[in-house]
Amino acid sequence: MSFSVVSPRVMQFGGGSVAGIATLLATFGLRRPLVVTDPVMVSTGLVRRCLEPLEAAGLSFAVFSDTVPEPTDTVVEAGVARLASGGHDCLVAFGGGSPIDTAKAMAILANGGGQHIRAFKVPVQNDAAALPVIAIPTTAGTGTERGEKMLIAGLGALPLAAIVDFELTYTVPQRTTADTGVDSLTHALEAYVSRRANPVSDALALAAIELIGRNLRTAYAEPRNAAAREGMMLGATQAGMAFCNSSVALVHGMSRPIGARFHVPHGLSNAMLLPAVTRFSLSEAPARYAEAARRVGFAAPGSDDATAGVALCRGLETLNRELGVPTPQAHGIAWDDWLGAMPVMAEQALASGSPANNPRVPDASEIVTLYREVYAGSNA
Ligand SMILES: [Fe+2]
Repeated sequence: MSFSVVSPRVMQFGGGSVAGIATLLATFGLRRPLVVTDPVMVSTGLVRRCLEPLEAAGLSFAVFSDTVPEPTDTVVEAGVARLASGGHDCLVAFGGGSPIDTAKAMAILANGGGQHIRAFKVPVQNDAAALPVIAIPTTAGTGTERGEKMLIAGLGALPLAAIVDFELTYTVPQRTTADTGVDSLTHALEAYVSRRANPVSDALALAAIELIGRNLRTAYAEPRNAAAREGMMLGATQAGMAFCNSSVALVHGMSRPIGARFHVPHGLSNAMLLPAVTRFSLSEAPARYAEAARRVGFAAPGSDDATAGVALCRGLETLNRELGVPTPQAHGIAWDDWLGAMPVMAEQALASGSPANNPRVPDASEIVTLYREVYAGSNA
């Protein structure tokens, strides 16, 4: 067996650890950060947790806060221009998926000699970035692979370092806690059942599945429960490391076209698909799905694989109900629009490459059947 493992060089964990940002930058000799964030982080004042230590250390920094929920090439290009004019030596990405994705795209694009962002999208592997990125997530989800438009892959998209501070997640809206939490559970489960899994990604994925199973509902119900927020932040980080070293699979492949076309948040479209896609895939990796069911807490530790597999599908449906996940229909998507989009979305899903990593590899007609099945929910 031969495989490679990637990760940031440093990951600093702990409540309040964002206060160490200036020390972390000093470790790498970095002195002029551009802080990439979004308008909500500025208006709520949360970004001050990152800026105050930079000020106290006397660092010369600037803030780029124009990132948007679905990053566009215009925003990234504006960011690259700011990067060039400010003489910066690194990017500090502070926020949810949008600032982190935007910062990564900026770092790669700044290396490209004026090329359009189109030249960097998957399946292109971007292994070089002009500047290092330090990621400070404020949601318990890595948010690394959002819309169809901005999917960028390669080592250049890997942060140099990360600060993982669960106290930054206390004020996340309840819907976002649920969506990013299910996204992280999907990362872990897909990394574990992926055809590209390896022993390192397996260990991370199983640890993540267990932590998320134990903490997601509490974090959703009690936003200031420190133990639950800490567990979710750790689980989400492990899940992110797991899929970076394995892959995502059919849920993500089918989810991205829904997000791009119907503007459904990434984690929510994953959640809409997760029970049905798991049921579809179960027969080709029964032992792996069963182990996931036991770790997440949906099946008893000693249960046999067949029982645990069924329990996993039921448990995922129940979790969706508990977290208030709507069907596409309940989310307000008209049946005619959904019906008309299904063939194109199936082609886009296949073209992303993710379905090929699934234990059961579907063809386009099977994907259409799954889209049809999830529209009004499988409990009807
Ligand atoms: Fe995801």
